[in-house]
Amino acid sequence: MTAEKVQASDWNGRNGDQWVAHQASLDQMLAPFGAAAIAVAAPQPGDHILDIGCGAGDSSLHIAGLVGQAGTVMGLDISAALIERAGERARSAGSSALFQLADAGRAPLPVATYDCLFSRFGVMFFDDPVAAFGHMRSALKPDGRLVFVCWRTAAENDWVSLPMGAIKGIVPLAAPSPPETPGPFSFGNVDRVHHILSTAGFGNIMITPFDHAIPFAPDVAGAVRRACDVGPLERALLGQPETVRAQAMQAVGDAFVGRMTAEGVVINGAAWIVTAAAA
Ligand SMILES: C[S@@+](CC[C@H](N)C(=O)[O-])C[C@H]1O[C@@H](n2cnc3c(N)ncnc32)[C@H](O)[C@@H]1O
Repeated sequence: MTAEKVQASDWNGRNGDQWVAHQASLDQMLAPFGAAAIAVAAPQPGDHILDIGCGAGDSSLHIAGLVGQAGTVMGLDISAALIERAGERARSAGSSALFQLADAGRAPLPVATYDCLFSRFGVMFFDDPVAAFGHMRSALKPDGRLVFVCWRTAAENDWVSLPMGAIKGIVPLAAPSPPETPGPFSFGNVDRVHHILSTAGFGNIMITPFDHAIPFAPDVAGAVRRACDVGPLERALLGQPETVRAQAMQAVGDAFVGRMTAEGVVINGAAWIVTAAAA
């Protein structure tokens, strides 16, 4: 299967279903990162905005409120389940945001139409990112802007490094993929991101670190449950015998103890906020 088909089947299979099931808690974790990127994008009344890899639509709904009735927000995603959830949320909130099931890297897009291409953690999954960003750039007005937030490396992000480090030697893990493999951390290397965007034709590229302490759970048991809900730990434990799961969860709990504060378990999230101009 090509990397692209892997992503499409993943986001239309278990991963998409898990994201729908845990949408509220994922939104709560990701909202500060999205809010920081939205503040940088600074959507203006009347702006036309494309939300790439919009998922269940949290950012699109926020941005729709900022661009008002004169503006538009279109969210694109390859996951049917997430697009359906996004549409339901827009209808129940009376939002003007629109959603479309599409591969943003290759679906036909209106030319020179958008003031801003925006994404909260939705642009790291393209098998050919240069081609995908070049394609999406054609949808930007000549004075348009690109703004997205993406994860830095896995090692800098507690929400993955902590549980996955803890289960090493307990759960058999696949050999690590090369860092540029499509996935949440494929944009961790700042030079790679710069190269992708400049080769795709973007100018004035700025990549700024954004760190945020994530209140993950009120206690260690809650943090273990949350880490098992969705993400790499949930996948690693799939199909493992109960004894291995129990041992792994104990080790993950021990790792979270070190992050216990007066406010509960607080972990660090490390992202880039990336901005670029259409030309
Ligand atoms: C980590 S989730 C983020 C979702 C959403 N932006 C949020 O912050 O809640 C990544 C999203 O990118 C979507 N995605 C992955 N590859 C895509 C592609 N080629 N075109 C459109 N969406 C894609 C996935 O289906 C998924 O919803």
